[in-house]
Amino acid sequence: MNVSSMPTLRKVKIAGTGSYLPEKRLTNADLEKLVETNDEWIVQRTGMHERRVAADDQATSDLALEASKKAIESAGLTAQDIDMIMVGTVTPDTVFPSTACILQHKLGARMVPAFDLAAACSGFIYALSMARTQIASGAMNNILVVGAEVLTRVTNYEDRGSCILFGDGAGAAVLTPATDETSYIVDTHMAADGSGGEMLILPGGGSRHPATHETIDQKMHYMVIHGRAVFKEAVSTIVRLVDESLTRCHLQREDIKMVIPHQMNARIIESAASRLDIPMDKIFINLDKYGNTSAATIPIALDEAARQGVIQRGDLIALVTFGGGLTWGSSLIRY
Ligand code: COA
Repeated sequence: MNVSSMPTLRKVKIAGTGSYLPEKRLTNADLEKLVETNDEWIVQRTGMHERRVAADDQATSDLALEASKKAIESAGLTAQDIDMIMVGTVTPDTVFPSTACILQHKLGARMVPAFDLAAACSGFIYALSMARTQIASGAMNNILVVGAEVLTRVTNYEDRGSCILFGDGAGAAVLTPATDETSYIVDTHMAADGSGGEMLILPGGGSRHPATHETIDQKMHYMVIHGRAVFKEAVSTIVRLVDESLTRCHLQREDIKMVIPHQMNARIIESAASRLDIPMDKIFINLDKYGNTSAATIPIALDEAARQGVIQRGDLIALVTFGGGLTWGSSLIRY
């Protein structure tokens, strides 16, 4: 689904962002103690040096809360102003109530709609896209969009092919009607291909394989990834998404100030950037510090880029993601 131009509808902007990373660090040296791996291999193959790990008493909503408070504040609003809450996550506190409902309560928000969106690494972009159309239509004004994960709780620390990749974190954005022509979301796109679902899967704990002693013994409550296959698919999808969004908006690659890609692997991002002929200094990377936090990577990176002054109001930025489902999505934003 593409939503490029909506001339009869309201333009929508990102009014504020926030992020939160737990303090505890999991370094490559720590991983060397858990599985047969080494710092050099991890850095060379992924670009990652360390990830963050939620404290024992922290669940996804706790991380989401901290990021959301900052986003609401930076938008110049209060929790009372929020008209809807959407949380992209595949690691909710509980299957139900949703993390969004728990977050609503913790924020002290009004009794507005609140729900989780399960689109894995595309969760934030999907939520952004849907929030945009809600505001554009005039149905709502201020929507809190969050990407939050505690992936370390579903990571198998006996599988060296996956445990090196994932970390915990949360990012949030508040969307509001645009007030001028400088800052607005220009384009959003989202799509899925369920035939590739087995490539990234958490097999246990759902209705297919409800939790039993057996599913636990078989470690079905951990993520299983087919990294090689995902790698190839991700590179070509990222390239296609960026190109297609520019074409839809009659813009050129040179118009982009900064690409903020899903932080899955530095080599995937470098390979896509090289094919797009976009220099690496226009690609925002923080996976060296946080690893892959699924739905949270893009809003965390967006918040860091904004707070560091790497992106300024009015700059054209491209958000692009690919992940479990398979799902993918992109957005072009005049920040
Ligand atoms: N340390 C050392 N060696 C490792 C290792 C580790 N942590 N993990 C795998 N290896 C080994 C493999 O066993 C393999 O050995 P072999 O050749 O003797 O069989 C070798 O390294 C190459 O493995 P391969 O899987 O081909 O490596 P890769 O270059 O594709 O990198 C990933 C592996 C997982 C880092 C990479 O494919 C990737 O990032 N894929 C996408 C990740 C993903 O799905 N993310 C979630 C979706 S958003």
